[in-house]
Amino acid sequence: MIVEPKVEEYLYRILPRRARVLAEMEGYAKRHDIPIVGPLVGRFLFQQAQLTGARRIFELGSAIGYSTAWWALAAGPQAEIFYTDSDPENARRAGEYLRRLRLSGRVRMLVGEALASLRQTRGAFDIIFCDLDKPSYPEALRLGLPRLRRGGLFIADNVLWSGRVARPDRSAATQAILEFNRLIYESKRLWPVVVPLRDGVAVCRKL
Ligand SMILES: C[S@@+](CC[C@H](N)C(=O)[O-])C[C@H]1O[C@@H](n2cnc3c(N)ncnc32)[C@H](O)[C@@H]1O
Repeated sequence: MIVEPKVEEYLYRILPRRARVLAEMEGYAKRHDIPIVGPLVGRFLFQQAQLTGARRIFELGSAIGYSTAWWALAAGPQAEIFYTDSDPENARRAGEYLRRLRLSGRVRMLVGEALASLRQTRGAFDIIFCDLDKPSYPEALRLGLPRLRRGGLFIADNVLWSGRVARPDRSAATQAILEFNRLIYESKRLWPVVVPLRDGVAVCRKL
């Protein structure tokens, strides 16, 4: 945890009740150890999409479709949300949840390597959300940045990586996150802010 545990608990406690299917997804993810953004960050993503009027959103790493659902709810019936995951069982389960949330019509399901799916999908995006294996983050940024419209957002989860970014840690995942955070602040084409919410969310506006 980044925030003091009691404060983190409080932040979860004051959240309003979610739709039944979202709560069910949270329960499934908890029982099966599937790392999802959870409701604090889900609401934050929802707000980012609404503030920017985003319609076309590409998600890199979608698992059971929990963050996908928040994007699809925020962006409305005209949205085009791209779900990506390499695991067909995750995609099957996500498809079922999205159908029950009546969001299937807004979501394109792309099963396979997510960066390859991004290369194969045409057009520009309002938001690209990165939640892949951490060693892929620098490459996701390199590929994603030219695909964002000006004023669009590149958002990445886990950029504080349970605090490991601030400790001596030579693991590939930590080194990749450090590299990603360095790249976003060095870029002359981005205006980034790292929000210490849950595990750290980077929101980078394309200039
Ligand atoms: C952290 S989970 C995504 C959680 C989801 N964004 C949410 O919050 O509901 C990461 C997912 O990305 C998938 N993944 C990781 N690297 C990938 C890659 N290079 N291509 C496709 N899927 C990948 C994994 O299978 C896993 O389901």
